[in-house]
Amino acid sequence: MKGYHFLISTLAILAFATFLASAYDPSPLQDFCVALKDIKDGVFVNGKFCKDPKLANANDFFFSGLQNPRNTQNPVGSNVTAVNVDNLAGLNTLGISLARLDFAPNGLNPPHTHPRATEILVVLEGTLYVGFVTSNGDGNRLFTKVLNKGDVFVFPIGLIHFQLNVAHVNAVAFAGLSSQNPGVITIANAVFGSKPPINPDVLTKAFQVDNKVVDYLQKQFWYDNN
Ligand SMILES: *[C@@H]1O[C@H](CO)[C@@H](O)[C@H](O)[C@H]1NC(C)=O
Repeated sequence: MKGYHFLISTLAILAFATFLASAYDPSPLQDFCVALKDIKDGVFVNGKFCKDPKLANANDFFFSGLQNPRNTQNPVGSNVTAVNVDNLAGLNTLGISLARLDFAPNGLNPPHTHPRATEILVVLEGTLYVGFVTSNGDGNRLFTKVLNKGDVFVFPIGLIHFQLNVAHVNAVAFAGLSSQNPGVITIANAVFGSKPPINPDVLTKAFQVDNKVVDYLQKQFWYDNN
């Protein structure tokens, strides 16, 4: 009887462990990783190589300068300062990063997604109108909120979201992201500002507009505030 209970609990633990292990896909940490038939031509990484831990020091885990307001004099009126594995090497493999967001009055962080991260944002100064849109399967529902100093909002991984400064003063927010390399896809920049441009036939059908509108949009300069 004792052995039977042991077997049952072992199976239960195994099942639970398997559930935990398969609850989430491993996130790719680069845009793509082209498969190679011959391993001698390739590298096995998902992200960056690791420094020998014995050679690591405190500066590998340190970043300075987020106290400074950034220049928001640009077409969208916002400036995002990311602290990710590219400028804080100690974040490699840790699945977390940070950003400072500065907004001019009426500045916008345009609709974008982070393909690899959920974002949690806190407002330090000002008032932001923020929102995200759910996926097609969920009916593309829009969730919005006006955030004041001290308010927190979360943008689920992969969903299109935005932040607009709705006050006549500057706004500042900080955001934590659940990847050391969250990635950013600004929707307008990717769709209308790709290099080379997407064939207009694709965009006229997709957006149900005529050539002139697509041509106009493709001729705009799509500023990257990151
Ligand atoms: C953000 O502001 C800094 C200076 O504060 C500037 O060097 C940088 O170019 C700005 N970035 C963008 C994307 O506008």
